[in-house]
Amino acid sequence: MDAPLLARAPGRLNLIGEHVDYAGGAVLPLALQQGTALHGTRGGERLRLTSDACAGTVDLSLDKLAALSAAGTPPAGLPGWATLAAAVAAAVAPAAGLVAHVSGDLPVGAGLSSSASFAVALALALGWRGTALDLARLVRDAEARARGVPCGLMDPLVIAAAAPDAALLIDCAAGTTRPVPWPSHLELVVVDSGLRRELAGSAYADRRREVEAAAARLGPLPAADPAAAAELPAPLDRRARHVIGECARVAAAVEALTAGHGPTLGALLDASHASLSADFAVSLPALDQLVADLRGRPGVLGARLTGAGFGGCVVALVEAGTDVAAWPGPALRVRPAAGALAVRGHTDDGGACAPQPPA
Ligand code: GLA
Repeated sequence: MDAPLLARAPGRLNLIGEHVDYAGGAVLPLALQQGTALHGTRGGERLRLTSDACAGTVDLSLDKLAALSAAGTPPAGLPGWATLAAAVAAAVAPAAGLVAHVSGDLPVGAGLSSSASFAVALALALGWRGTALDLARLVRDAEARARGVPCGLMDPLVIAAAAPDAALLIDCAAGTTRPVPWPSHLELVVVDSGLRRELAGSAYADRRREVEAAAARLGPLPAADPAAAAELPAPLDRRARHVIGECARVAAAVEALTAGHGPTLGALLDASHASLSADFAVSLPALDQLVADLRGRPGVLGARLTGAGFGGCVVALVEAGTDVAAWPGPALRVRPAAGALAVRGHTDDGGACAPQPPA
């Protein structure tokens, strides 16, 4: 009889370093306790998935997955999550099938990486093994094929590699990571704006093209000269100014977090939001308003939109113990959690997908 398995992956919250991963900058996200779980059994010749959050089912033979893998394109006509599942499974090329149910406690489309969390959990459930960087690349490329969104490495890499109780500094050009321990006197609160966006339909790809156009003239933007960026034609000047400034803010945020200096870190979050709104044009009036509202509340050190923008969540840095009961909601207090591969034994024995009783 096939053994039961449980594969889990967290969501991610980006503290700072927004829209710089695909420019080769450094980012400072963390993994969340909230995430995605697959309960099921491995074996047989088919991939069969059902989900709490998404309509439809996935039902594909291993032969079909092998054909998809050879063709390099996901099947047409499936719901979005099924297309992503097929693209991930084709890339993993599993030796055995999987029958599983997907559940989780991440809001979908809220900027907390529900899709990368699902994709990482699925790859692990299918028996994928290797380094966090390889897994992140596999998921990033599968998302690009399935959804046509040219995302960066940040989301799957922090979901795979985060250490507990720490943010993860990722150098996206080198693919290297370093945990930055989280101080106990600071907390993070995530507030969902309720505004939903679909990355594929957003200006994400446009922004990426603009950043690449700016880099074609200036060289890699993280090291570019701000004076030269100011000479670019609009809107490339503003896009480049955001990336250059955001990369500097990430470096300063690492220092502030290491020193445990909340007001400095908070001011960096505020500056990040201002730049994302005015220069990078990925905010919305309602998000700007929510950020301004939170900043005026006791205990709040700084706030900004998190994730790609165009809706989704705002993250606020607060003094530990700040009362959020009267905040616009839902307001979720979060702590940095371990990434999927940081679970002990994961890569040795199939780890989170080793046989275990469903929780
Ligand atoms: C999305 C993408 C990431 C990153 C952010 C913006 O979450 O998946 O790769 O580009 O937007 O920082």
